[in-house]
Amino acid sequence: MSKEREYYKAARRAAAAVNSTADIKNRLDSVVRNIARTMNAAVSLVLLDAGGTKLVHTSSRGLPQFYRKKGVLDAAKSMTEVITGKPVVIADVTNDDRIQFPEMAVKAGITSALGIPVIAGERCIGGIRVYTRERYDFTPQDTVFVTTMANLIALALRDYAALQEGSDPLKQPGQAEPSLLTKTRSVVFAHPSEEEFAGILDFYNIEWVYEPRSFPLSWEGETVTEMFTPDFYLPAIDLYIELTTVKQQLLAEKHRKLKLLKERYPEVKVTLLYKTDYDRLLAKYGFGPLAQTRAHGIDQVLYSATEINERVKALAAQISRDYQGRRPVLIGVQRGFICFMADLIRQITIPVDIDFMAISYYTGLSKSSVKVTKDIVVSITGRDVIMVEDIVDTGITLSSILKHLQSFGPAGLAVCTLLDRPARRLAEVNLAYIGFEIPDKFVVGYGLDYREEYRNLPFIGIPVIESAVENTGTAGTK
Ligand code: IMP
Ligand code: MG
Repeated sequence: MSKEREYYKAARRAAAAVNSTADIKNRLDSVVRNIARTMNAAVSLVLLDAGGTKLVHTSSRGLPQFYRKKGVLDAAKSMTEVITGKPVVIADVTNDDRIQFPEMAVKAGITSALGIPVIAGERCIGGIRVYTRERYDFTPQDTVFVTTMANLIALALRDYAALQEGSDPLKQPGQAEPSLLTKTRSVVFAHPSEEEFAGILDFYNIEWVYEPRSFPLSWEGETVTEMFTPDFYLPAIDLYIELTTVKQQLLAEKHRKLKLLKERYPEVKVTLLYKTDYDRLLAKYGFGPLAQTRAHGIDQVLYSATEINERVKALAAQISRDYQGRRPVLIGVQRGFICFMADLIRQITIPVDIDFMAISYYTGLSKSSVKVTKDIVVSITGRDVIMVEDIVDTGITLSSILKHLQSFGPAGLAVCTLLDRPARRLAEVNLAYIGFEIPDKFVVGYGLDYREEYRNLPFIGIPVIESAVENTGTAGTK
């Protein structure tokens, strides 16, 4: 698909999402998400605070937490042109004084940046920043696309302000409504079970929109006489959900309306959900094992199955591009890599070979003593090798494996790790591809274990035992 067409589709999706919800947080998130997805980059939306001098991160996608939380930025120092209403293109963040925190940008793996102002009427109220990991020269077409999305944001904000106060923000000299930044999820639920359901979705990092849309069901002439408004919409799986109570007469009525909805709008996916069906639904859409375990022992989900999937796809695209015309050997070390490698290779579009190793740590000694218990079978001499890792912690395991592989004389040896926890790094390792940089917490799921448990969780989370774990990284076994 041409870039032009992808941009058109992203703009169309974002416009539809903005128009389908009154929740400002969801509106801003969907615009940001669509930019990130289409440009395959990290995106953040910053808005000026009420004083008009500070920028606040309002919605972001793909940025490590520490970068988002680096604090409010000084509008006068940070990509100033954005605030004056001009686009800013920065090819190399390390070498440009328009970046306020270059070390942090580097730590966040950012190389190039694009800043586009968000302009409401004639007043600049903030900016959209697009960041890429690899050096990238933004094109005029990119600028036009992000400007379109910025206009959508300005319209969403204006409409929101008008809805809130019956006022027009363009008439006020104050900047973006301060309430906007705090009242991000000001949903008023009609029923406690809806709030509970939203809570469950939040726990699993599943995006949702409350009462997204009303579907006209019956008409008398031009007049709509009957409508149906499903409780939730889950954009990630394109599904509308109607929760039900146990009251029989209400249930019959809902069934009737749902049947009508399906007849009138056959393309719309909608389901009726009993309270007891939550787990079943989550299981059906890939949140499986928790349905049984109720995510026992999981304190917090860091990355949902959907987020992991998006990130793995992006890594695979990058590898396919970088190794175009070659045939790399992907090597994994048992057993934590299993989910990552399985998903990764299915998204890579060039031919690859795969192989595996197993290692053990000499007991009683430090982790630096790694023994290869199962070696690779494929000959890698003169080949391009990509080492696929679940997580790089101290880097000691990886560096001794790399030394081992290097002894075979490969043409190249790169590392692709799903997770990078730089906080505990002891051995210097060069990571060519990183899925997520994670905080200094022990994590499980998606192949990673704590004493052989939790490997089959479809998401990555922090177990409750995290605080009890010495957090040396030794609690997980390979
Ligand atoms: P390193 O030698 O300290 O870098 O350790 C890397 C290995 O330790 C990984 O390949 C994992 O098998 C394991 N590990 C480190 N941190 C974690 C974690 O948070 N959860 C599960 N396993 C981990
Ligand atoms: Mg492990």
